[in-house]
Amino acid sequence: MSMKPLTDTPAWHALQKHHTEVAGLHLRELFAAEPKRAATFSAEACGLFLDYSKNRITGETLRLLLALAEERGLRGRIDAMFRGEKINSTEDRAVLHTALRAPRTEKILVDGQDVVPAVHGVLDKMAAFADRVRSGQWLGHTGKKIRNVINIGIGGSDLGPVMAYEALKFYSDRALRCEFVSNVDSDDFAEAVHGMDPSETLFVVSSKTFTTLETMTNAQTAREWVLRGLGGDESAIAKHFVAVSTNAEKVREFGIDTANMFGFWDWVGGRYSMDSAIGLSTMVAVGPENFRAMLAGFREMDEHFRAAPFERNLPVIMGLLAVWYGDFFDAQTAAVLPYEQYLKRFPAYLQQLTMESNGKSITLDGRHVDYNTGAIYWGEPGTNGQHSFYQLIHQGTHLIPCDFIGFAKTLNPIGRHHDILIANMFAQAEALAFGKTAEEVRAEGTREDLVPHRVFEGNRPSNTILAEIVDPATLGKLVALYEHSVFTQGAVWEVNPFDQWGVELGKVLAQRIIPELEGDTALHHDGSTNALIERYRRMK
Ligand code: F6P
Repeated sequence: MSMKPLTDTPAWHALQKHHTEVAGLHLRELFAAEPKRAATFSAEACGLFLDYSKNRITGETLRLLLALAEERGLRGRIDAMFRGEKINSTEDRAVLHTALRAPRTEKILVDGQDVVPAVHGVLDKMAAFADRVRSGQWLGHTGKKIRNVINIGIGGSDLGPVMAYEALKFYSDRALRCEFVSNVDSDDFAEAVHGMDPSETLFVVSSKTFTTLETMTNAQTAREWVLRGLGGDESAIAKHFVAVSTNAEKVREFGIDTANMFGFWDWVGGRYSMDSAIGLSTMVAVGPENFRAMLAGFREMDEHFRAAPFERNLPVIMGLLAVWYGDFFDAQTAAVLPYEQYLKRFPAYLQQLTMESNGKSITLDGRHVDYNTGAIYWGEPGTNGQHSFYQLIHQGTHLIPCDFIGFAKTLNPIGRHHDILIANMFAQAEALAFGKTAEEVRAEGTREDLVPHRVFEGNRPSNTILAEIVDPATLGKLVALYEHSVFTQGAVWEVNPFDQWGVELGKVLAQRIIPELEGDTALHHDGSTNALIERYRRMK
């Protein structure tokens, strides 16, 4: 289906014109003119409250952005995704991470086949396995209980599981040590297994394709480590390795019994897979009940995204605001700032979700875009970031829209910590929006030459997402919120958020260079690469 180029559409032109009218307005003015702004520009769904009033928007901005979403056919695209249409057109695949959290009663067809029974079949198998490991029924080769679970995977086969493990650590079985090995750098593997006994260690090799260089290299090393530790008996592998993959043949080739394989499907993208079998290590850590609660949270947000009118639809609003800043204010980056230590890996997780999805410059019908697409996402948990990079957000030259994420309750109520934490979050959003004028600085008796240095211009936009407490369901809701915000952005930009061709070239070149580092063959790269390889050969 060929669409009118985005920048030629009436909604785009209207937004451009509108932008020139409102770009100069300060949030101070907007709040003064509209005292009920916080109520107007906030929405609540699935227990998540979104205050988006500290954004540089008016009612008209929102109206125009919503019109843009309509004009880009967002409604139809959402329906197509949920229906299982092959919207990942460059790979000819359906996009059905939403099926991973569908109830047993639902029917979702891919190529005429209902996928829901298979989803639940795998979930049940995962649950039975997780229970056996957690209860100590699953024994290692020498009859010992499993005390260490190591997920080997990278990208979507790592970031989701490690993020969820950290986020839900409070709910995890503390008798199990969980580690995540992703990097091909041997330091990663060596440190993960440091001091571990192979007879008590279970590896979960997670790879959609089961061909990824990093994961296969680490899995091979793990295999050798286990065999070395257990006297070289090959039959030990079955007790110490399970696989999560879509590729049974490769799993078998590696030597893992496919009875110990947990499957998923090509319609689950890597970065959308933490709620598939890729979540096996998460389930082992927190138990099947908590994992299912997380899925229920995802599902609640899916339903909201699918059914809520756009003006009350959290992912749609957040996605459209991202378009507003990226395309009309030329904001290059977006910060995600969870005021919750358990979400410390959430920004890293979001980096793959957002940037691998919308880091595209070619539209669905093959044109080069003439507008900004996905922003650079980054962040750190509060308050650490405040003592590091917030200076630039407050007084630097870049406009950086921020998402603050906080919780009303803490899982570890100790003294005044939580109020202090959340006070800081509210304070940062307030300071960013309203700043401090020269008059206010002077009124404090500041020396005149220091006044410009101490002025906070303000007008720095932010969203604040407030939820009750970190729990599995809330985590699912939060992740789905961002998944669908990414989808909304992709629909407006008319790119395919579900392929990732941009990661291929480097992989191919690395395969060519590996033997060149191991031998001394003639080099045929550019001058810089040749010289670096030669130097490395001399230095290694
Ligand atoms: O490097 C890109 C990528 O394909 C990601 O999209 C994916 O999550 C990751 O590699 C890992 O892939 P696999 O699960 O097949 O090992």
